[in-house]
Amino acid sequence: MNINEPLTLLGGLTPETFMRDYWQRKPLLIRQAIPGFKPSLSIEDIRELVTREEVESRMIWRDAKGWHMAQGPFEKLPGPRKKNWTALAQSVDLHDDATAELMHQFRFIADARLDDLMISIAADGGGVGPHFDSYDVFLLQGVGKRHWRISQQTDLSLEPGLPLKILKNFQVEEDYILEPGDMLYLPPHVAHDGIALGDCMTLSIGFRAPTQATLACGLLQAANDQIMANLGDCSGLYAEPALPGPVLDETYKDPGTPATETPARLPEGLINSALQAVSAVKFTPELAERFLGQWLTELPEAALFDPPEDPVDLFELSLPAPGCLVLDRCTRLLYRNDSLFINGDVAPEPASAALRSLADARRLDLNSDLATTLTPEERCMLTAWVEDGWLRYST
Ligand code: SIN
Ligand code: CO
Repeated sequence: MNINEPLTLLGGLTPETFMRDYWQRKPLLIRQAIPGFKPSLSIEDIRELVTREEVESRMIWRDAKGWHMAQGPFEKLPGPRKKNWTALAQSVDLHDDATAELMHQFRFIADARLDDLMISIAADGGGVGPHFDSYDVFLLQGVGKRHWRISQQTDLSLEPGLPLKILKNFQVEEDYILEPGDMLYLPPHVAHDGIALGDCMTLSIGFRAPTQATLACGLLQAANDQIMANLGDCSGLYAEPALPGPVLDETYKDPGTPATETPARLPEGLINSALQAVSAVKFTPELAERFLGQWLTELPEAALFDPPEDPVDLFELSLPAPGCLVLDRCTRLLYRNDSLFINGDVAPEPASAALRSLADARRLDLNSDLATTLTPEERCMLTAWVEDGWLRYST
């Protein structure tokens, strides 16, 4: 993607300008971000999707008693005359190619930050109530109209005792009616409330941002696995292939220790030994890369692959050849320097220019010069990915 080219999707801003001036800073309303937008899935399709076990869904409704929430799957949603309810299907990008492609229009932001595309359907009056999210979101109107009210208020206190997050004091500052193709970008913590005006569908492109605690714990877990792998124990989650690191195989020694009259007291020598042992562990960028590469490519439970019956053997092809390789919508492929991570694992081959290009473009043209640089080992790895349904060959 050319990040210096104005995008209709961003109201004529370039991705570079949007990221500099709006991302994580201020809301942006974009009329006709996708002119003539028609979502690939209908309201009926979403009604069907939320009946499925593998789709994470919830329903929120409001009545005289207040707010209610239920987790899916739902055998049946309310009928056409019922008002004030909404049903939300999470990660629809895992279930529909066109929805995944729509989400990929936002890849001017790193894959590591993109989370999922959620679709909500609502009857007149339906919505999730005034709330704030901790993440950035693009709210794209799919079907019908929605009345959005937003506020940059600092009072983010919540109504206590409710099954969902509802702001106690929502003070509307701006409001807009969104029609199909209109989009509203909201940075984290901007209060918002979207109420359906008649039957309505809204698509939310959501982002993820780990907490410091998640990052620290992940890095410590990677260090733990590195230690165990270098002792020859490969049972750890991050153990294979082992990252070079200290071999902490010496046992504690205390020759010359005097006899004790306080046997219950922890020996200071043991305390110091523990601190000394951990100081041998180096928290390097490679260790962080190992943790993040594996963690960020981990597949959600809803990611299901459909391996082909007659997979292509890339050894048999003499390159360049017609056709291309395309990553399956559920595949997660990330790299940093030479390291390549796919679907929760370290890839067996380093991230060559051809493999990095496959990760960035999510496709590799087999007729390209880059494809001719694929080594036999890389072709072998790609063939295995095709066999698993992670990568598709199309002519
Ligand atoms: C929606 O109701 O579709 C959007 C939910 C949200 O405001 O985050
Ligand atoms: Co929200």
